[in-house]
Amino acid sequence: MKRRSKTSAARAQWTKKHLLGIEDLTKEEILLILDQAEGFREIIERAIPKVPALRGKTIVNLFCEPSTRTRTSFELAAKRLSADTVNIAMAASSFQKGETLKDTVRNIEAMKIDMVIIRHSSAGVPKFLSGCTKAAIVNAGDGAHEHPTQALLDVFTMRKHLGRIEGLNVSIIGDIAHSRVARSNIWALKKLGANVTVSGPKTMMPARMEEMGVRVVYDIGAAIKGADVLNVLRIQLERQETPLFPGTREYVKCFGIDKERLAKHAKKDVLIMHPGPINRGVELSQDAADGEYSVILDQVKNGVAVRMAVLFLLSVSK
Ligand code: CP
Repeated sequence: MKRRSKTSAARAQWTKKHLLGIEDLTKEEILLILDQAEGFREIIERAIPKVPALRGKTIVNLFCEPSTRTRTSFELAAKRLSADTVNIAMAASSFQKGETLKDTVRNIEAMKIDMVIIRHSSAGVPKFLSGCTKAAIVNAGDGAHEHPTQALLDVFTMRKHLGRIEGLNVSIIGDIAHSRVARSNIWALKKLGANVTVSGPKTMMPARMEEMGVRVVYDIGAAIKGADVLNVLRIQLERQETPLFPGTREYVKCFGIDKERLAKHAKKDVLIMHPGPINRGVELSQDAADGEYSVILDQVKNGVAVRMAVLFLLSVSK
C-alpha cells in the first residue's frame, strides 16, 4: 500500500474553510500550520523556490488598508505554490463609486476564484465576507481585532530560534489597545503554553487584559526582566482618535527599547521582534532594531513559509 506524504496527511487533518482568527484555532491546528510551514521554509531557500501544490487555484489579494509585508508575503506565498494571483487596488476599484465590499467579493467570485485575502480597517469584515461567498477567506488584519498570520509567523520564529513555545516568557510591549498583532499573539502564545506579559502606557492598555491570561505590568524594566522574547509593537497613531501620550520623547523615555535598557534589564540572549513597520527611534532604537538579537527580518522571511502553509491547508474546500 502507498504511504501518504506528510503534506497530504496534514491537509487531510485540516477541517477549517477560512482563517479568520487565532481565537478560532485549536492548539493542534496551530501546530499543524507551524509544522507544515517548516517544510515550506526549506522550499523558499531553494534555487527555484516553487512547487506545483496550488496549480489551477486563483487567489485574490483585497487590501483596503496599506500593507508592505503582508500583501507581498501572501502574493509570494501564492506564487511559490504556483497559484494565479490577482491584486485589487481598492483606491482604483469600483469601491470608490460606492460598490459594497460584499458586491465586490461576489463579482470577483463570479470570475471563478478560490480564496480572498482581506485586510480591512474594521474588525469583523473577514467573518462577514465568509458568510457571503463560497471562496475561502483569509484575514490579513481586521481593525484592532486579529492578524492571525502575523501571530503564526511570530510563534514560528520563536520556535525556530528557541526550540519551543511552551514555558517561554514573552513580553509584548507598546500600543496593546490598538494592536491586532497583540491580540492574535496572545491567543497563539497562550494556546501553546507560553507565559505572556503585556506592557505599555496605561492609556494604551485595554481594561481587563488579565482575563486573557496575561500579566500586565507598567514598569518597562519588569516587562523586560526574565523575558525570552520582547515583541515590540508599533504605536498606531492612525487608530488613536486623540493622542494617548504627551509626546514621542515621553514615550521613548518610558517605554522605548534601546541598547541601554536592554543592557540593564534583559537576558543576554533575548530575542527582539517587531511586526513592522517600525517607528525607528520611538518604540525601538536603531541599535536595538538592527542589533545581534533582532530577528525582525527573519520574521518577514518566515512569513512567506507560514502563509504558504495557510494557503495550502485552506486550498481543499471543506
Ligand atoms: N506586519 C504587518 O502587517 O505589516 P504590513 O502592514 O506592512 O503588512
